Amino acid sequence: MKKVFSLILVSLLVLSLTACSSSALTVSSVRKKGSIHMATSPDFPPFDYIGENNEVAGIEIDIWNIICEKLGVTLQIDQMSFDALLPSVQAGKIDVAVCGITASEERKKNTLFSMPFCLAAQSIVVPSGSEITCKADLEGKSVSVQSGTTAESFCTGEGYNVGSYESNTDAQLAMAAGKVDAWVIDDLTAMDMVATYNADHPDAPLVILSDVMTTEPYAFAFKLGGDDFVNEIDKILTELIEDGTMAEIFANYGLTYIAPEL
Ligand code: ARG
Repeated sequence: MKKVFSLILVSLLVLSLTACSSSALTVSSVRKKGSIHMATSPDFPPFDYIGENNEVAGIEIDIWNIICEKLGVTLQIDQMSFDALLPSVQAGKIDVAVCGITASEERKKNTLFSMPFCLAAQSIVVPSGSEITCKADLEGKSVSVQSGTTAESFCTGEGYNVGSYESNTDAQLAMAAGKVDAWVIDDLTAMDMVATYNADHPDAPLVILSDVMTTEPYAFAFKLGGDDFVNEIDKILTELIEDGTMAEIFANYGLTYIAPEL
């Protein structure tokens, strides 16, 4: 028994040592390493998606290419499902997670966020002809959302009958197939995905309601403790907002950039 107990103690000690050993990011550690290891879930156009050459593309990729250029390091991009991103950054497996991540108070407890670079809201999407025409009509109805998202926690909190799907494409298809009454998703991605869907399905288009829910600041996610590096990222982001680069990036995707009030 004693042996088992000390074995447990030793493994706990080793575990906590390894947890501490992945040290927090600093500007000099990143420069020394020469690269930034990013991960995204590229199912979130126009922020992150798979582009023409089968490469990850989007607004956030453009922003990070510029950040890396300014820092003089290269960008390594991994793909993972949305709900794996924050645990990976928290465990120090990646340097930064990006993909329209809302910097919520809940997430701030175990994630360090950059300054917000964009404000989003949740949109309600329904098949055309649906009897749901505003948020109040959602009462008692079923909605699809992407699992692990703020749409999921918001809709659960509102008491809707929530169906969670691994990707937004699955959540969209579930609604289009009539498995749920509505689909709740961030506004700019809703516009992008609905436009693509409607171009392919002109006879059964989807409609984005004018009622939006929540206001959510998007920011980049880091492991707690990386303040030295994140302060530098905030400086660069402020520069990109002030010199018009951010507006240019958004304009390349047909969007008008509105800087979040800081
Ligand atoms: N803004 C929402 C959130 O942080 C949704 C983000 C979904 N991103 C994605 N790549 N699918 O929960």
